[in-house]
Amino acid sequence: MPAITTPEAISSARWIEAEQQEFSDKFNRASFQVAHQLSAHPLLQLPALMDLADRTLKNRPDDLHYDMGKIRVEQRWDAIEKPPFFPRQALRQIEECSAWFIFRCAQRDPNYRVFLDRGLAEIKAMIGSRLESEILVEDIIIFVTSPQRVTTYHVDRECNFLLQIRGSKTIHVFDREDREVLSNEELERFWSVDFNAAVYKPHLQHRAASYKLAPGNGVHIPVNCPHWLQNDDNVSVSLSVNFQFKDGRRANAYRANYLLRKLGLNPTPPGKSALLDTVKSRAVAPLVWAKKMQKRLG
Ligand SMILES: [Fe+2]
Repeated sequence: MPAITTPEAISSARWIEAEQQEFSDKFNRASFQVAHQLSAHPLLQLPALMDLADRTLKNRPDDLHYDMGKIRVEQRWDAIEKPPFFPRQALRQIEECSAWFIFRCAQRDPNYRVFLDRGLAEIKAMIGSRLESEILVEDIIIFVTSPQRVTTYHVDRECNFLLQIRGSKTIHVFDREDREVLSNEELERFWSVDFNAAVYKPHLQHRAASYKLAPGNGVHIPVNCPHWLQNDDNVSVSLSVNFQFKDGRRANAYRANYLLRKLGLNPTPPGKSALLDTVKSRAVAPLVWAKKMQKRLG
């Protein structure tokens, strides 16, 4: 795909491209590679990101994340050093800091809203109208990563398109249906009590689909597909377009199973019986709602 570098060309070109059949077959089922036209977009270059960091610090400081240090693939997020930081300075020094800088919900900045609106519109056009009614939350995240830095093994509650803007790195994505890679117990803990519940198993690394990311390409990661990343010896900038789906039945069935397992039972995993999943989901829905309210009210 030819590089698109002028603002006019960026605004008129299609941003995200994928093979239509692969898109329909694999969306939120399996990982696959996509192409995009955003690498030269002025808003995704470091000087613009420094300005975004200043504005975010002023208006929404909780949407900035920074951590640093030599990280192991299996390391828990709560065991990673999160020192105080000055965002602009942190980005200026990103080359030397072994750091991970995250802009969460970047679409809340009016200048960046376009990435969500246009990126999602293109993705929805590829999926068809059914997607619109299924989305609960949609957002974009921008990651800036130091050379050689690892992003630890984890699963997410959203599905996303991770688009590589600057630098190269490798992402390793595992099959979420492989119960040796990702056990039911890990999924139950993930949906109930521990975002770091997925446990990396080095002896199963060969089962990952590994994608070399470079400016102009990206990867689709379905909900709950375990993954980890290894940055090359360069600063990396990536844009993630995320969706969280309305249908929480599967997640709630895992939550119910977490409670049932605590009672000493060996519960049926989600997906075996739609009726059972619905009953379990309805049973725990009030608890999930109460937990959300408690979090919202602090
Ligand atoms: Fe992730």
